[in-house]
Amino acid sequence: MAFLADVLDRVKPSATIAVTQKARELKAKGMDVIGLGAGEPDFDTPDNIKEAAVAAIARGETKYTPVAGIPQLREAISNKFKRENGLDYKPEETIVGTGGKQILFNAFMATLNPGDEVIIPAPYWVSYPEMVAICGGTPVFVEAGLETDFKLTAEALEAAITPKTKWFLFNSPSNPSGAAYSKEEIKALTDVLLRHEQVWVLSDDIYEHLVYGDFTFHTPAQVEPRLKERTLTMNGVSKAYSMTGWRIGYAGGPLHLIKAMDMIQGQQTSGAASISQWAAVEALNGPQDFIATNREVFQGRRDLVVGMLNQAKGLECPTPQGAFYVYPSCKGLIGKTTPEGKRIESDEDFVSALLEAEGVAVVHGSAFGLGPNFRISYATSEALLEEACSRIQRFCGSLRD
Ligand SMILES: Cc1ncc(COP(=O)(O)O)c(C=O)c1O
Repeated sequence: MAFLADVLDRVKPSATIAVTQKARELKAKGMDVIGLGAGEPDFDTPDNIKEAAVAAIARGETKYTPVAGIPQLREAISNKFKRENGLDYKPEETIVGTGGKQILFNAFMATLNPGDEVIIPAPYWVSYPEMVAICGGTPVFVEAGLETDFKLTAEALEAAITPKTKWFLFNSPSNPSGAAYSKEEIKALTDVLLRHEQVWVLSDDIYEHLVYGDFTFHTPAQVEPRLKERTLTMNGVSKAYSMTGWRIGYAGGPLHLIKAMDMIQGQQTSGAASISQWAAVEALNGPQDFIATNREVFQGRRDLVVGMLNQAKGLECPTPQGAFYVYPSCKGLIGKTTPEGKRIESDEDFVSALLEAEGVAVVHGSAFGLGPNFRISYATSEALLEEACSRIQRFCGSLRD
């Protein structure tokens, strides 16, 4: 009898963590490596948020909290949904978890039975299919490629829905493509969903505040209020407030789903870290001006990276509206050969040859379910990005037919 559970046969380790790890190892060996694999802002957590955490420690807020979160944070979340999204979630219709990751996981845990399908547009965040698989569901991938700016069309969504579809997993702005859906584009999808009562929407809004130019963020329950009763609107403080290490995510949804998630969390981790919850109260209720400042910095970096990548021989890089990722296609380089004589057969070959030749660590598109592409995280300094993109240009220019 095998010791490890069968579920491990259905789950892969995270490719993004693997790339970050490989870059770290090469660096430790003395190689000059620029890591563009990580999915976290390089800015520090704002001081007012840190101070709220210190004050919480000093006050003795260091004990177990209610499983679904301290009342002050659930109130702040309820207010945030109202203020920023025009959504009415009462505090009891919200839940706080240890990162957005736990919220997603527990939503699947609470709802999926074997055979239940979850529609996941590709390219997708690496954790989605694995979470679905761990919880016993079946991920159903629908490609949304370069031709549609990495956005799922209403027709493609309609074609993917079956009587077994339980969730449609929606992520805008997207990791890894940075694609963000306009109100009209969301409406086209919610129109389809209105016709299929068995399908729920899980909207991962974690990159909400990272949108550029005159783009305005929308979320499905706001665009189509008739879907609110079967939508879980997930968000978190990791990306907008540079708080990845604090591990606070949250969601708003129908009471019966929130209660089921609360029950699962109560037998699992219980409430998220008390100190982090108090920091998140300050993040949501305190000054928001640095979000706009960070956004401007990110937009400048995006423009720099897109501009330089489009000058690289054989790459095609659309300009995404959000997040801090670009997802260029390296289709034009498949079949070429490196000066060392290695043939590039796939995006995975491309990224490993790039790492070896130029010390630039990026993540291959096949890890996100759509290639040949690769993902660059531009959450690092302009100087490093400029150097990395010059190296990528040099590497692409060195490939031969
Ligand atoms: C699309 C997406 N959703 C959710 C998360 C989870 O973030 P956290 O667990 O830090 O809240 C991430 C983090 O990389 C992400 O990229």
